[in-house]
Amino acid sequence: MAARKECLVLGFLVFLWAALGIEGKEETEEQTCRLLGKFDLNGFVDARNHSLVIGGLFPVHSRTIPANKSILEPVSAKCEGFNFRGFRWMKTMIHTIKEINERKDILPNITLGYQIFDTCFTISKSVEAALVFLTGQEENKPNFRNSTGAFLAGIVGAGGSSLSVAASRILGLYYLPQVGYASTCSVLSDKNQFPSYLRTVASDKFQSDAMVKLIQHFGWVWVGTIAADDDYGKYGVKIFEEKMESANLCIAFSEIIPKVYSYEKMQKAVDAVKNSTARVIVLYVSDIDLSPFVLEIVFHNITDRTWIASEAWITSALIAKPEYFPYFGGSIGFAVPRADIPGLKEFLYDVHPGKDPNDVLTIEFWQTAFNCTWPNSSVPYNIDHRMNMTGKDDRLHAMSDKFCTGEENLEDLKNTYLDVSQLRITNNVKQAVYSLAYALDRLSRCEEGRGPYFPGNTCAYIPDFEPWQLMYYMKTLKFTTHNGMRIEIDENGDVSGYYDILNWQLDDNGEVAFVKVGEYTFTDSKFELVMKKNATMFWNTESSELPHSVCTDLCRPGTRKGIRHGEPICCFDCIPCADGHVSREPGQRECEQCGEDYWSNAQKNKCVLKEVEFLAYDEALGFTLVILSIFGVLVVLAVTIVYVLYRHTPLVSANDRELSFLIQLALVIMLLSSMLFIGKPHHWSCVARQVTLAMSFSLCLSCILGKTISLFLAYRISKSKTRFISICPLYRKIIVLISVLVEIGICTAYLVLEPPRVFKNMQSQNIKIILECDEGSIEFLCSMFGIDVFLALLCFLTTFVARQLPDNYYEGKCITFGMLVFFIVWISFVPAYLSTKGKFKVAVEIFAILASSYGLLGCIFAPKCFIILLRPKRNTDELVGGRVFAIENSIRLTSASVSSELNNTMVSAVVDD
Ligand code: TRP
Repeated sequence: MAARKECLVLGFLVFLWAALGIEGKEETEEQTCRLLGKFDLNGFVDARNHSLVIGGLFPVHSRTIPANKSILEPVSAKCEGFNFRGFRWMKTMIHTIKEINERKDILPNITLGYQIFDTCFTISKSVEAALVFLTGQEENKPNFRNSTGAFLAGIVGAGGSSLSVAASRILGLYYLPQVGYASTCSVLSDKNQFPSYLRTVASDKFQSDAMVKLIQHFGWVWVGTIAADDDYGKYGVKIFEEKMESANLCIAFSEIIPKVYSYEKMQKAVDAVKNSTARVIVLYVSDIDLSPFVLEIVFHNITDRTWIASEAWITSALIAKPEYFPYFGGSIGFAVPRADIPGLKEFLYDVHPGKDPNDVLTIEFWQTAFNCTWPNSSVPYNIDHRMNMTGKDDRLHAMSDKFCTGEENLEDLKNTYLDVSQLRITNNVKQAVYSLAYALDRLSRCEEGRGPYFPGNTCAYIPDFEPWQLMYYMKTLKFTTHNGMRIEIDENGDVSGYYDILNWQLDDNGEVAFVKVGEYTFTDSKFELVMKKNATMFWNTESSELPHSVCTDLCRPGTRKGIRHGEPICCFDCIPCADGHVSREPGQRECEQCGEDYWSNAQKNKCVLKEVEFLAYDEALGFTLVILSIFGVLVVLAVTIVYVLYRHTPLVSANDRELSFLIQLALVIMLLSSMLFIGKPHHWSCVARQVTLAMSFSLCLSCILGKTISLFLAYRISKSKTRFISICPLYRKIIVLISVLVEIGICTAYLVLEPPRVFKNMQSQNIKIILECDEGSIEFLCSMFGIDVFLALLCFLTTFVARQLPDNYYEGKCITFGMLVFFIVWISFVPAYLSTKGKFKVAVEIFAILASSYGLLGCIFAPKCFIILLRPKRNTDELVGGRVFAIENSIRLTSASVSSELNNTMVSAVVDD
């Protein structure tokens, strides 16, 4: 119709042009439209005696033969590479139409014919076919939609997505219903671009999602992708990559397999597979395009890869060959649901080239299947015009020498065409034909006045309805298939359903078996991957274990992920945790900080309790200090015993015996107090240690002061000789009492107001908790020891002044010396104390205590004991108490001091010149 219009328009223009006489020449010849050439299309047509025709597009060949470059005129290409699977699909369409025609319940009085073309799996042939569907190829009979003599109702096909896209761009202009059976590309759901496209196969949107779920299920994170150089591969991988990204998984590489063999492009893809660390690779390619790549993989001997198959090759006999099993065994992928089609097998067997000499496809089928040449036919045999893999021009033009007899037995043939064990896409073909039939059936059952079309609720009628009128019924189609499956076509022309998850294994006969290991269901609300529990998987790895596909192995506990700039998130460095931080689980992003009392172990995978440090009794240092202090105590006790034994000797009784005993007691306390510093600090030991020390010091020093004061006074007496000074022993004890009381007062205030407490020092060292005593108030501490210092200074000054007191035994000098030792020890203590840490700090303090005690012990008591024990002769009144200036017996200046022990309590030193 359209062509006729075009001719009319052209004729009218010619007429106008002639009438106006622009050329000035009379136009006499009648203008007719003429086809410049015909498309070279093969297929099956049966339209005679049928009310309607359904078009079909199937890839019966795999490719077109490249045009001879020397021919300038455009010619329609020829095809090669017979595809048994496509031939089966095509036959299935014919079988289904026959079945529908025989059925009484669908389209009772209407029979369907068919017009089927081979697309040769190329876009150009699909477009040729689409045009022919619309206009036919009859020169004198321009028409629209009825070139076969019956109206075209709709089209089934075309196989590959790119072909469907191309055909749909043309068919969509006329709103001609087109039902795809294999084209899964997601763009075909876009009804703005493809308004009349519907399908009985699910969109790749679901398949890509399913692949990501499968990858997650097996714990792979680093996956390569290889796409066909067409809409199917590119869109499939695009959605897959998007979903991978949102699942935080990474793409190792994305390569493309060329449609037309190119050495460089193919090598690029192969190298990517070879060099990548990804062990799992997604292959979004139709089996026809995949074959050359498979050969390359075999050629390069690339094993140990797990391929994730898309629905287009998972059950393809072209790939699932036992010889490829070492490379492709263990492949796992998604297949559209399988079905049995009753009667199909018989129908497929009913094929013979002898029936129709013009049936070139059947002749070629026979020739290819049986490797023979059909006599008297021009149908070429198994041509391959491609460059072969190695790049050499190794073309095959073989005609088999063997002639076909026609007696060849199909039963002997193990051929994809006759294999009805995996009817998946084949079943989709059947459903595609059925959906057109059901829509036509609905249309035919329209009751006038209740129809869907406005105005007037009219109906459309078979055969001359408009394509869009049928589209109305197609868009809301719901039906149940022969095997009870529900097919519901949604507003985008898509269906929901499920995929079988298949794993390639080798069966007992050495053939590749597609073992179902799970299912992925996708409906409006449910997207669920379920793996069979008891399914055994075959993995093509050295160990036959689940492959491991990661860019970088999970970081060990003790390390964390460190981002590598510019690389996918799955590739990272493992950085050891910082001190005090740990990571317990493998693959942690961050290290966690250990709690206050904890620190990281050497491996940084556990927080361990910090080592608690204090000066313990059982370590060498602590032990030595204990021994030293006990030894000191023993020495003091020995001195005391000597003093007790020789208490009546002049040396002991001179200068206040009680004070001497008190000094010894103070020394014992002082020495023992050093032990409070050793061992684990407790509250009581913290409280006790400084206080005991300060008290013993004050006791000791005040006693010494008591003595030195006597000396000092004696000295003053000896100097002035005029003054009368008397010092009663009681006063000396009062001095002791007062100093001790003051000290007790300060200590009590200290303990009440700001007592020391145990303190865990975590700052000074990270890995240790130093258990120490926090001394509380520094002020109190200073005043406590300040008293001691004050007493010591007094002692020192008084004896220093009195040091020249002439005597046989210079107690004054000894005390001066003792005090000097005391000062030196404590002055040197300060810097040593401040510059040490931890338990050594305590040790320094103990050393100072011990040293000062030993100093006092040595200086004050050692010389006396020496005389008492070893020089008893010098321990006489005369020698001891050189009564230089004695006036009374009661006043004796002893070497030690001014003795006062005489008869009584009262000592009076009367100095009289
Ligand atoms: N899904 C493919 C596409 O959209 C077509 C396809 C499915 C296919 N199975 C196939 C093509 C088998 C060839 C062979 O392009």
